[in-house]
Amino acid sequence: MTPQHPRNATSVPLTDQLADRWSPRSFDADFEIAPDDLTALGEAARWAPSANNAQPSRFIVGRRGTPTFASIVAALRPVNQGWAPRASVLIVALAETQRDGRPLRWAEYDLGQAVAHLTVEAESRGLSVRQMGGFDPDALRAAFALPPELVPVTVVAVGRYDAAADLPEEIRQRDAAPRLRRGLDELALILDV
Ligand SMILES: Cc1cc2nc3c(=O)[nH]c(=O)nc-3n(C[C@H](O)[C@H](O)[C@H](O)COP(=O)(O)O)c2cc1C
Repeated sequence: MTPQHPRNATSVPLTDQLADRWSPRSFDADFEIAPDDLTALGEAARWAPSANNAQPSRFIVGRRGTPTFASIVAALRPVNQGWAPRASVLIVALAETQRDGRPLRWAEYDLGQAVAHLTVEAESRGLSVRQMGGFDPDALRAAFALPPELVPVTVVAVGRYDAAADLPEEIRQRDAAPRLRRGLDELALILDV
């Protein structure tokens, strides 16, 4: 559990990893993820469900300090370049949208589930995740010579939250801002129970 925010306010208690999860920008720029923890994130993604068990999720994983990490940072929007380089690992999450010339209709949905599983596993290991849609897919395509059927959907930052991170005040304030949600009654269009 990270100290920045109270537990997510839920009408009934949730499992700790869901109750405590949030997406910080303030990462400890010196923290290294242990190899087993990194492997566990991959396993969590690997064992996520997918339509027809097609398993269309693919990942490009770069540890801070590697050329892969630098290439991912270079593809981020400036607003994300302000904080993401402090993450321990950056992961490009890609969906295999076609196989054998046929579309995999649920590829992006399946990828989202795989990343959700990864996120919960990260939380259980004291790690935090923040996902990003703010990146240039063409820059990633060029950097990693991606074939057309592999679509970069998000970049996932993983690391250890650090409230004392030496970050611009604006980023610090955004991390401290209240985290809001629609009410459950807005989610359920019909609740016939
Ligand atoms: C697909 C996706 C794209 C996102 N893109 C960005 C982004 O580019 N930059 C950023 O700082 N946060 C990004 N976020 C993080 C969301 O803003 C964050 O998850 C949301 O505000 C809810 O906050 P919480 O995760 O702490 O509950 C993204 C999240 C998702 C799932």
